[in-house]
Amino acid sequence: MPERPSWAAADVDLQRPNAARVYDYYLGGACNFATDREFAEKIAELVPEVGDAARLNRTFLRRVVKFLLTRGIRQFLDIGSGIPTVGNVHEIAQRAAPGSRVVYVDHDPVAVSHSELILRNNDRAGVVQGDLSEPDNVLNSAVVRDLLNFDEPIAVLMIAVLHFVPDELDPHSSVVRYLDAVAPGSYLAISHATPDPDPGRLTRAAELYRANNTPFVVRDRQQIAALLDSTVLVEPGVVYTPQWRPDSPDDVGDNPERSPFYVAVGRKP
Ligand SMILES: C[S@@+](CC[C@H](N)C(=O)[O-])C[C@H]1O[C@@H](n2cnc3c(N)ncnc32)[C@H](O)[C@@H]1O
Repeated sequence: MPERPSWAAADVDLQRPNAARVYDYYLGGACNFATDREFAEKIAELVPEVGDAARLNRTFLRRVVKFLLTRGIRQFLDIGSGIPTVGNVHEIAQRAAPGSRVVYVDHDPVAVSHSELILRNNDRAGVVQGDLSEPDNVLNSAVVRDLLNFDEPIAVLMIAVLHFVPDELDPHSSVVRYLDAVAPGSYLAISHATPDPDPGRLTRAAELYRANNTPFVVRDRQQIAALLDSTVLVEPGVVYTPQWRPDSPDDVGDNPERSPFYVAVGRKP
């Protein structure tokens, strides 16, 4: 049995791989255990580009927050926010616009305890332990109600999280519920794993997650676009991660599908 660090509460299972900690490992973080690293390596044998895809996903998050700031957004609800790492939403937003308010939501206790730690001196950012598929609990939580003003636009971020929500839980209805709650002019930004570049390999990777008790659903471009059907898509629409408003055309490269993730941003009319 691995030694339990202070950031892993007694109910955190150290023997079973966990999606937040596996992602932390891909990003070079230290909040993971041997079981997470072994599982991450198994996925990487099947999908060697997974580490790059995780890093590209973080660069998309940075680009999208900066883009939203240029559109006047000063409030962020980041659902499935993960274990904090370099370039968290509040750091990017509050550096550019110090009054920005950010609420992180994750169902994973390790992600939540680390977020609490880094936010303890920040009165404009907070964290909720909650589930994307329980929008009313998230939206009515004290932290959300204290920090966010629903009369003003809010950016709802669901970055690399919706593929953890199986069809039975109807992710589309959850997305719609969040969008119903926010003011016109609000935004939804998503990134989502897809089998499109190589269906066999990516579908097998999703099966590996499921075999480890972690729901994982890869969805094709049309299914991902449907998640944003109550918004007006921001250009360039639903594209592979490197193709979304790159800092430089060189960043796109010859094979943008090297990141098997689609990303998109939509505006609530
Ligand atoms: C791959 S990480 C993404 C972290 C961050 N959004 C990013 O893109 O860098 C996915 C996160 O979603 C969280 N998650 C998965 N399913 C969730 C759910 N139903 N509700 C809330 N969080 C969830 C996991 O615990 C994990 O921290």
